[in-house]
Amino acid sequence: MKALVLAGGSGTRLRPFSYSMPKQLIPIANTPVLEYVLRNILDLGVREIGVVVGDRAPEIQGTIGDGSRFGARLTYIRQEAPLGLAHTVAIARDFLGDDDFVMYLGDNMLPEGITQVAEEFAAHRPAAHVVVHKVADPRAFGVAELGPGGEVLRLVEKPEQPRSDLALIGVYFFTAAIHEAVRAIEPSARGELEITDAVQWLVAAGADVRAGRYEGYWKDTGNVEDVLECNQHVLSGLRHSVAGEVDGASELAGPVVVEAGARIVRSRVEGPVIIGAGTVVEDSHIGPHTSVGRACAITGSRLGYSIALDGASVTGVQGLRSSVIGRSASVGTTGQSTDPYRLVVGDHTRVEVAA
Ligand code: TTP
Repeated sequence: MKALVLAGGSGTRLRPFSYSMPKQLIPIANTPVLEYVLRNILDLGVREIGVVVGDRAPEIQGTIGDGSRFGARLTYIRQEAPLGLAHTVAIARDFLGDDDFVMYLGDNMLPEGITQVAEEFAAHRPAAHVVVHKVADPRAFGVAELGPGGEVLRLVEKPEQPRSDLALIGVYFFTAAIHEAVRAIEPSARGELEITDAVQWLVAAGADVRAGRYEGYWKDTGNVEDVLECNQHVLSGLRHSVAGEVDGASELAGPVVVEAGARIVRSRVEGPVIIGAGTVVEDSHIGPHTSVGRACAITGSRLGYSIALDGASVTGVQGLRSSVIGRSASVGTTGQSTDPYRLVVGDHTRVEVAA
């Protein structure tokens, strides 16, 4: 079995971050989403992994390299434009050969792993085995209607009136039967070759298509709210570990990771919180559910339920919440509380200030 990881796409929902970085490298508890994806695949014993990349290929390659760090063999497959999930299967045809494979969206987090789903696929080896998860509002997803034995009766992409609450999530298992389906379908109204259409083509052709329910935690980290919620979930399993320095005037409560070279000075850190290597936290209150990346400076500030990416600085701001601060971005104060706000804000950035 091989794996196909999708790390291209346009990432419009995750602007402004996706302007300067591939969204699959957004850190959750200071580790890029893509690394969680690779680990879940390696847990299946799969070593040959194709990684579909777009314009942001160099940064993806710079981060995960040839895969040897993880014990994997990575083959990069360049997608000229984000023409759809089924398009990635078409361009990966030579890499995939006639092998079974797991297709995994590189921005999907399933922290409990996918071994159970893989076992279900292996037990029946249907043409396609999709993974479904119960969601509150299925209208934004591909929706599966299932028979009593878990067989897929019909798949509908973003239905206005969903006939089930089971959404397709970002992991699919396929045999080589999917290639004929991918060749047979046409681009959808949004101009993409949809994997839902390819799987529905198999269903209509009478192929065995099954669905496994995934009951664990799942999150598509495609927008800021979901990134923060996922960060909260992953941090809730954090184990306390302090390799950096914490001075006598500071207090750590709950599980806190202070990476090597980080310094906590006259501050309170209320876990779960992770503080990256080389970061300095001074006269501040951090947490809970907060990740601070590497080489950040948090001074005289209060920051909770937030993520600061590498090199970010926050100075003198009391009460940041639900915030994501980009790499080397700085947030500070002007001096007097009566001063007007001063903003230097990039394209598609969101700023919310007190009324
Ligand atoms: P999506 O999040 O569905 O698409 P997107 O990346 O274009 O994002 P947005 O809707 O915010 O503009 O993609 C799911 C995953 O698949 C993600 O990791 C990107 C990847 N992908 C590709 O590699 N190639 C593609 O053609 C598409 C559409 C997505």
